[in-house]
Amino acid sequence: MIEREFQRLEEEVGACVRCPLHEKRIQAVFGTGHPFSEIMVIGEGPGEEEDRQGLPFVGKSGQLLDKILAAAGFSRDENVYIANIVKCRPPENREPAPEERAACLPWLEEQIALIQPNIIILLGSTALKGLIDPEGKITRMRGTWIQWNDIWVMPTYHPSALLRNPDLKKEVWEDMKEVVRKYREVVDPTHKAPHL
Ligand code: URA
Repeated sequence: MIEREFQRLEEEVGACVRCPLHEKRIQAVFGTGHPFSEIMVIGEGPGEEEDRQGLPFVGKSGQLLDKILAAAGFSRDENVYIANIVKCRPPENREPAPEERAACLPWLEEQIALIQPNIIILLGSTALKGLIDPEGKITRMRGTWIQWNDIWVMPTYHPSALLRNPDLKKEVWEDMKEVVRKYREVVDPTHKAPHL
């Protein structure tokens, strides 16, 4: 049963000591959504609020992420599973180090293998570097599909980048339009996107 596998994995992640990030965490943040989601969204790592609540994207950038998903007709309760490259909060919200990303990657790979999403949306540079290409540049690679292990992968900007620089919203809308187009092609031709 996939639910049982998921629970086992979550317990293992909760007890993980593979890198020093475990030392300062309140708790590991495994992910949210049901295991049969067609879309996975992958961010960077938990911030302060996420560390406290044990859920990904519950702070300001999470609210923006939910709005972006809603505009495209998606939601974390319905068809999107949300996880991060690292499961434990990096102190002072710094970028996770390459060794921390590498130590945590097998957990994410197991999540992806269980969920088997059709589409992965990578939010920002850390997600792109962590999953696809350590030298990847988000400014260059956003908006273009990558085929990775039979999954369509779309890199775009992280919502926290949009909060710092609202000019980037235009590009994210373009990228989300592409995601809707692909979702209609490979999952549901009747999918409605209310604001795209
Ligand atoms: N930013 C992320 O990348 N992930 C979270 O869970 C929260 C903020």
